[in-house]
Amino acid sequence: MIRAILFDLDGVLVDTDTLHYQAWKELADRLGISFTQEQGNRCRGISRMDSLEIVLEGASRSYTQEEKETFAREKNARYQQLLSALTPDHAAPGAHALLPELRRRGYRLALASGSKNAGLILERTGLGQWLDAVADGNLITRSKPDPEVFLTAAGLLGMSPHQCAAVDDALAGVQAGRAAGMLTVGFGDAALHQAGDYNVQALEQLLPLFPPLEGSL
Ligand code: G6P
Ligand code: MG
Repeated sequence: MIRAILFDLDGVLVDTDTLHYQAWKELADRLGISFTQEQGNRCRGISRMDSLEIVLEGASRSYTQEEKETFAREKNARYQQLLSALTPDHAAPGAHALLPELRRRGYRLALASGSKNAGLILERTGLGQWLDAVADGNLITRSKPDPEVFLTAAGLLGMSPHQCAAVDDALAGVQAGRAAGMLTVGFGDAALHQAGDYNVQALEQLLPLFPPLEGSL
């Protein structure tokens, strides 16, 4: 029985994937490389350095590891500048209602995000107050589709994988949840691909999937 719900952050609880795209696009423009929305979608869920490899696909020359690390730092500085404008109103529609309602229904909630900026985003949006545990890019060594971040989140909650549902907008994220042995819920882009066991396009559509646990109300 599902007792815990593990949420991806970027593109699920907050629309930061558009800010990732903007910051990568500005870097690509500066380097004279084209960077499409389709490439941006492939950056969902994967690590910063893996995303950079996608950004550099259209480059006419190769770059050294040192140059790549400089580019990643430049992108992250711009991304953090964009994040500094976030407020609780920037949480995804319905997030501030959904999370306390799921807790009221008896579920334990955790974040399972590959982002090293997750703490900043949770703080600025106020979403952190609804979460029982946070597994982010600072706690893991292998990014999605590896199951590590979902297994870490489950471990922090003291739950076994079969008690957990993983909600993610990235194909890599749904694969990670499945590899962890969890029920998967595709959201947004992943739902368009029918990647999850369930697929939803709005947070409120999660409520019928997770009815109150016995003795919770
Ligand atoms: C999430 C996003 C990815 C991003 C990754 C690392 O998984 O979906 O697009 O590359 O986090 O984020 P960071 O904030 O650490 O660069
Ligand atoms: Mg995501």
